[in-house]
Amino acid sequence: MIGIKLKKSILVKRGIKKPKVIQNKKFFADSNTFLLKMLLDSYPNFISGSLLAHTLGISRVAVWSRINKLRLLGIDIGAVQNVGYRLVKEPIVLNKNLVGAWLEHIHCKNCQLFIFDSISSTNIETEKLLTESTNKLPIVVIADKQTNGKGRFNRKWISPSGGNLYLSIGFKPNVEVLKLRKFTLYLGMQVVKLLRNEFDTEKFMVKWPNDIILNGKKIAGILTEASIDSERVNSIIFGLGINLNQTPKLNWNKKKLKPTSISNELGIKPSIHPLTAKIIKTIVKSYHNCISERINPNFLSEWNKYDYLNNKNISLLKGEKLSKGKCHGIDHDGNILLTLSNGSKKSFNSGEIELLI
Ligand code: BTN
Repeated sequence: MIGIKLKKSILVKRGIKKPKVIQNKKFFADSNTFLLKMLLDSYPNFISGSLLAHTLGISRVAVWSRINKLRLLGIDIGAVQNVGYRLVKEPIVLNKNLVGAWLEHIHCKNCQLFIFDSISSTNIETEKLLTESTNKLPIVVIADKQTNGKGRFNRKWISPSGGNLYLSIGFKPNVEVLKLRKFTLYLGMQVVKLLRNEFDTEKFMVKWPNDIILNGKKIAGILTEASIDSERVNSIIFGLGINLNQTPKLNWNKKKLKPTSISNELGIKPSIHPLTAKIIKTIVKSYHNCISERINPNFLSEWNKYDYLNNKNISLLKGEKLSKGKCHGIDHDGNILLTLSNGSKKSFNSGEIELLI
């Protein structure tokens, strides 16, 4: 199955250690999130201290004290006497209240958000949380740093702290496997569209099946893991890592695409909070579109617009077998199409790709 790592067994119910988690069962259970949401809603205008105090049901002095605490977390909030407060600058590093506030601000409310400073892998944590039937779905797990981030082909995803995005979203679809076949390709494309829109450049491309490329270098990867039982999908976890502000240091093999970050390539410091909220909204919406078959069945014809590999010579390793050829997009099932060196055409539903220079 394209781009989806399947686990034949049902997720094992484990003893779930209570995570060191900043958990927003309901975002507004946290009044700091609510306060920030009000600042976002009124941006670029000021909002008065008395309106904040009245809405939060606290005194103006208490508002002032909360604003100061948020400032200590690196959130730059301006204040003008007799006018009010205004958000000036967001920190580069993930702040749980700001993610919650942005999700509310863009009307993405129906998910349960867990945010960690450091975790082994957001995919692993999501898998654990999915086994707790009490959790509202989808489950969204984000971390500033991963100590054991998982990549495709059992590789590590190097996940330094300091403003990159490590995000997993878990659903329990209970649909036939076939329904999710094109899921990752579709989602990857939607994320690329969002990035193009946000950064106002068409330089973002998708490399089959799920790498996201900028200026010919890799800035993001997607690891989708599903648990199936009797051809039905019990749970699916969509894990996305985007190098926004940090380029991971790793031993890079020249045949692979060089890792980079958006900040390196575009010379800007991307703001993690609005982007994270918009990506969550995009993924949740795309998932529901896939499940309810609201997407155009021919959506893959759009792939060409985003296809980094089109007309490039590549090698594809599937199991022990290495094939070489030129890429010509994908077919209706999402398989990659190659014209092999002997002139014959062949499609592949999985495999590891390297560019031939
Ligand atoms: C790839 O190999 O290109 C896929 C990388 C996927 C990395 C993300 S980071 C968030 C989520 N948690 C993980 O452990 N992996 C995925």
